[in-house]
Amino acid sequence: MAEDLASTDRPLATKRALIWDIPTRLFHWLLVGAILGAYLTDQFGGIDRTWHMRFGYAVLGLVLFRIVWGLVGSQPSRFASFIPGPRRLLDYLSHIGERQARPTATHNPMGALSVLALLAVVLFQAVTGLFVDDAILTQGPLASLVPGWVTSLATNIHAWNFNVLVALIVLHLAAIAFYHLYKRENLLGPMITGWKTLPASLATQKPASLWLAGLVILLAAGLVYGIVTQVPVWLR
Ligand code: HEM
Ligand code: HEM
Repeated sequence: MAEDLASTDRPLATKRALIWDIPTRLFHWLLVGAILGAYLTDQFGGIDRTWHMRFGYAVLGLVLFRIVWGLVGSQPSRFASFIPGPRRLLDYLSHIGERQARPTATHNPMGALSVLALLAVVLFQAVTGLFVDDAILTQGPLASLVPGWVTSLATNIHAWNFNVLVALIVLHLAAIAFYHLYKRENLLGPMITGWKTLPASLATQKPASLWLAGLVILLAAGLVYGIVTQVPVWLR
């Protein structure tokens, strides 16, 4: 499927196509807001972590949503559409210096790697948060279920992993600027409007149903609710 959505030739005739569906775009911008919220409430919220944890749960729910949407969502948002094999990645890298971008109807192979890294590091940040203990007022909802050394490890990793996340975000923004300025490809526009100009020869499909997205949102929210409120009771 990756081949269907990937252009190798420069466009002759072009068309406008919807590549990022509403759920994927909402996911992205809500994720940015929730991470910013978690950071700001940690920095300026004092010792009361209530809002920090709420933003953390939102992040967890969003990433769980995106993982399932990557399996059942619109074609360009599916992992199978954009995770590159080694050959496609090497081929892409061998042309990375070209000024003219090779538009794809999904993430390009480098973008795909950065997306996977961002999702993994964000998920790890939220999951370690569940086991954190600040030794003053706040424990993550699962902290009481594990031995003290695990909470203290999780607390250290939670602080340390945030630096990794910030580094990835900086790289993410630098890559978008590089595509804009050097390769003259606007990646930001499609992440806002959903639409992108593509070679007419590229296959595109109708977006997945919003009802399905609603179901996946409910599933993700239910999972987070279960992890935060039910698992500590079941495993006590
Ligand atoms: C991805 C979302 C999250 C981000 C970006 C984030 C970020 C941070 C950061 C930067 C700190 C300060 C670390 C330090 O330097 O000491 C922190 C601390 C903390 N976080 Fe999170 N966090 C997230 C999710 C969560 C979740 C889901 C929970 C719990 C349910 C949580 C609970 C805590 C607690 C209790 C602390 C205080 C730890 C201490 O003072 O030792 N966080 N978080
Ligand atoms: C907390 C900060 C951020 C995080 C964690 C983040 C994470 C992500 C993730 C996970 C994706 C993949 C989207 C998907 O397929 O679902 C993505 C794509 C994207 N993000 Fe961000 N993002 C952040 C900030 C930003 C900002 C501030 C901008 C705007 C300048 C931006 C612009 C984009 C664009 C244009 C894409 C699409 C890239 C492509 O076409 O391959 N992101 N981001």
